Amino acid sequence: MNSQPVGVFDSGVGGISVLASLMRELPQERFFYYGDTAHAPYGTKPTEEVNRLVGDVTRHLIGEGIKALVIACNTASAVSAQTLRETYSFPIVAMEPALKPASLLRRDGRVLVLATPVTLALPKFGRLMAHYGEGAERVPCPGLMELVEREDWDGAETYLRELFARYDGQPIDAVVLGCTHYVFLRPIARRLLPETTAIVDGNEGTARQLRHVLEERQLLSGAAVGGYALETSGDPAVTLPVMERLLRLGRQNLTAD
Ligand code: DGL
Repeated sequence: MNSQPVGVFDSGVGGISVLASLMRELPQERFFYYGDTAHAPYGTKPTEEVNRLVGDVTRHLIGEGIKALVIACNTASAVSAQTLRETYSFPIVAMEPALKPASLLRRDGRVLVLATPVTLALPKFGRLMAHYGEGAERVPCPGLMELVEREDWDGAETYLRELFARYDGQPIDAVVLGCTHYVFLRPIARRLLPETTAIVDGNEGTARQLRHVLEERQLLSGAAVGGYALETSGDPAVTLPVMERLLRLGRQNLTAD
């Protein structure tokens, strides 16, 4: 059982940034990554539809014999984590925009939370805002994940430059990358933002959480080395090379600053 893979999924390639963190934290584990590319994006769809898609992906991953599941997508986590936990007994690690750590970095400026429209509109995020949202602002970014899917880094830079220009002259203490796709944009955001602005994401925390639950349930792999497999509901000839490139990028230089 302990040598079974951990399932990891996202609406597309965003969760590959999480996979990179998981592999760093737990190099002895095997990971099975599924990108639901054919049905992306999730973040602008009705929640019923996201729930249905997430249910399909989860059943597919169960068919792969997973011992635990990481929902490497803030949107799918916000919509479906609770239902999945009520349905299945294996460990399920979900994500949320890293507003809590960002709130600790706030001085007297703003905290911008970049995420999908669905993530930011759901009551789950409302509760997070009620606790940690002083000075924080919801910044929905429709269309931004699509640019990452296409590896359109110039397009993403233009998108972010225009977005940050709205706050010109106003101090921004922290920017939360609240969608796993946006973690790939950290180097671009770093170039566009003043040095004093922290950029925060939840990937390392998610990896530590997976370690914690696997330890607790005595599910850690005893293998010397792990590995990964990638699958997509899109066109494998197009998407698998993108996933491999982004995994390399994620493993090289997306660590927190
Ligand atoms: N990567 C996803 C997230 O973390 C969602 C992108 C989308 O499908 O809209 O929210």
